[in-house]
Amino acid sequence: MNQPKRYLITAALPYANGLKHIGHLAGAYLPADIYARYLRAQNRDVVFVCGSDEHGTAIPIQAMKEGTTAQAIIDKYHPIIEQNFKDLGVEFDIYHRTSSALHHETAQEFFSVLNNNGDLEEKETEQYFDESANAFLADRFIKGTCPNCGYEHAFGDQCERCGKSLSPEDLINPVSTLSGNPPVKRATKHWYLPLNKHEAFLREWILNEHKDDWRPSVVGQCKSWIDGGLQPRAVTRDLDWGIKVPVKDAAGKVLYVWFDAPIGYISATKQWALDNDKDWQPYWNDKDTKLLHFIGKDNIVFHCVIFPVMLKLHGNILPENVPANEFMNLEGDKMSTSRGWSIEMDDFIKDWVKKDNGGTQMADVLRYYLTAIAPETKDSEFTWKGFQDANNNELVSIFGNFVNRTFVLMHKLCAGKVPPLHTDILDEKDKTVIADIENAAQKVTALIEQYRFRDALFEVIDLSRKGNKYMQEKEPWIVARQLATDPSAQKRIDNCLHICLQLTANLAILIHPFLPSTGKKLLWMMKVVEKILAWENAGKMKLLSVGYSLRAPELLFRKIEDPEITYQIEKLKMNKEETKENTAFENTEASKTEMTPQAASPVKPEIQFDDFAKIDLKIGTILSVEKVEKADKLLKLEVDMGFEKRTIVSGIALHFKPEDLVNKQVVVVANLAPRKMRGIESNGMLLLAQNPEGKLVFVSPETLIEAGSGVS
Ligand code: MF3
Ligand code: ZN
Repeated sequence: MNQPKRYLITAALPYANGLKHIGHLAGAYLPADIYARYLRAQNRDVVFVCGSDEHGTAIPIQAMKEGTTAQAIIDKYHPIIEQNFKDLGVEFDIYHRTSSALHHETAQEFFSVLNNNGDLEEKETEQYFDESANAFLADRFIKGTCPNCGYEHAFGDQCERCGKSLSPEDLINPVSTLSGNPPVKRATKHWYLPLNKHEAFLREWILNEHKDDWRPSVVGQCKSWIDGGLQPRAVTRDLDWGIKVPVKDAAGKVLYVWFDAPIGYISATKQWALDNDKDWQPYWNDKDTKLLHFIGKDNIVFHCVIFPVMLKLHGNILPENVPANEFMNLEGDKMSTSRGWSIEMDDFIKDWVKKDNGGTQMADVLRYYLTAIAPETKDSEFTWKGFQDANNNELVSIFGNFVNRTFVLMHKLCAGKVPPLHTDILDEKDKTVIADIENAAQKVTALIEQYRFRDALFEVIDLSRKGNKYMQEKEPWIVARQLATDPSAQKRIDNCLHICLQLTANLAILIHPFLPSTGKKLLWMMKVVEKILAWENAGKMKLLSVGYSLRAPELLFRKIEDPEITYQIEKLKMNKEETKENTAFENTEASKTEMTPQAASPVKPEIQFDDFAKIDLKIGTILSVEKVEKADKLLKLEVDMGFEKRTIVSGIALHFKPEDLVNKQVVVVANLAPRKMRGIESNGMLLLAQNPEGKLVFVSPETLIEAGSGVS
């Protein structure tokens, strides 16, 4: 494609079900932002859209966890995520929401067009249904025992212990998480997108037309999908959260989230056009538009196979490229918010950007490191040490140092003004650096055009490295000693600083898409307006006029000290421990006392006497009880076990008043392995009975008996 008339850039719409981590940032938003900023500097017609993905089961599930409504969840997370992106310099033209009326209309229209054209198929199948909750169950709403590893809390789509992907039919003893009851099978009708009918198109379009210009990993994933046999995909679901299926007699049915979410790119463009008095249509309908989807690798099939088929059927343009990234790991393990092993954007902003008051470009430092280790061709790894090194050894010692030296010396040796360039005495070293500037601009441009942001950034830093080396060789501070005796000394100083200043102006242009606030700070120091950042200026030598006076240098980057890094690593580890405790708690005490009434569950699988005999039950007398800070469900009890006193933490605070429990005799599981909850070690478990309404009573001896008595 020659230079297209306009660009539409999309970055995957994040689920508004929680905070997003820096792996998300590195995967989709940061590269998309770099590319959009580059195009804006090229003065191209570009619209960069994103927004919250607010449907699907992820949202109501988070609502259950937080004890609130789906609407409350999206209203909580949408603005936080939007602000996080702003604070990290990701500049969308619009950050929309799929819960908006405009999006609902747009998605329904899209579905109707396909349905009315006969491009969808209707089919009836049997699916799990919860009779007491009167609802069909999405895969995530069914739990049961994993057939692979025996884990009792596996979900209908995946076992979180062994990682095997499952379908609800695979689970042993499935129960609905809505009621705790076993579900039944019931017939239901859905609409399907027959991908199998589009195989020839997909083969030609991806595996032939784009086999060389798309990333090999993207083409590879598509190929294995297509070769694996394309099946009709259901595009509707039985769920009460989402976009209503716009067909008569489809009550209780919504569009599948992966059908509606990518259409969110279109509705976001429409809203942007409304806000800016523009026409949205050419961005989605005109062949002269270059459409680009920036995503992480887990989204490849949706953006390369399913959505393109939808777009083709609906009569829209297709993406020109889908530069998907691999994953970024963290300190030797997979990044995951649910396992507590991640760095949330929100946390990074609090700990670094806000703490430094924005003055040290900490958001840019993150952007720098994430781009330098971008997982463009294979998985990569974020380490705090690597972050510190990138900052200290590259941004501070090379880039920042070069700019600082240039400004300090220009003030000292050239009266704070841009000195002239004396072409009559240019030597080889001068000429080489001038050529380096031009080459760097060309290389950076070519690499960005190929979505190779990591290599492009490397070229920018390399230019500052060359500047440093040049300055070191020229030693204008030494030349200055000859000023009184050698009439050419000032000329040589002028040339060195003139070239270094033009190089700095070039750095501002080239670094700006990657590190926007650093670029702006350089502009401020050079007292020039933003227009100079126009990409066509890159590689040029006359960006700063001779005689123009510049500001004093400002600190661009600060050194990061070891204790700051140690703190972050400790925090990461603690976070993981705490998450482990909380999930362990959810799966045991909480599920026992708060979520699944035991009476309603089927009898557990048979055990042998020996299994039972392993459990040591004893009578204990509760001595004292206190609430646990910041954990409204937990009580900390001191229990007399006869032979010793023990601390036991129990999730019963919502059911009993502490003072009512003192002196009560209870049955204790005495040989349960100790477990930490909220930092307190719990040594044992109390037995309680729970009725279907959730009422709890203690299992207690009929009359008083010595503490420590055995129970069998
Ligand atoms: N919400 C999805 C995710 O986080 C991405 C949706 S991308 C879109 O994996 F194209 F569907 F919007
Ligand atoms: Zn398993």
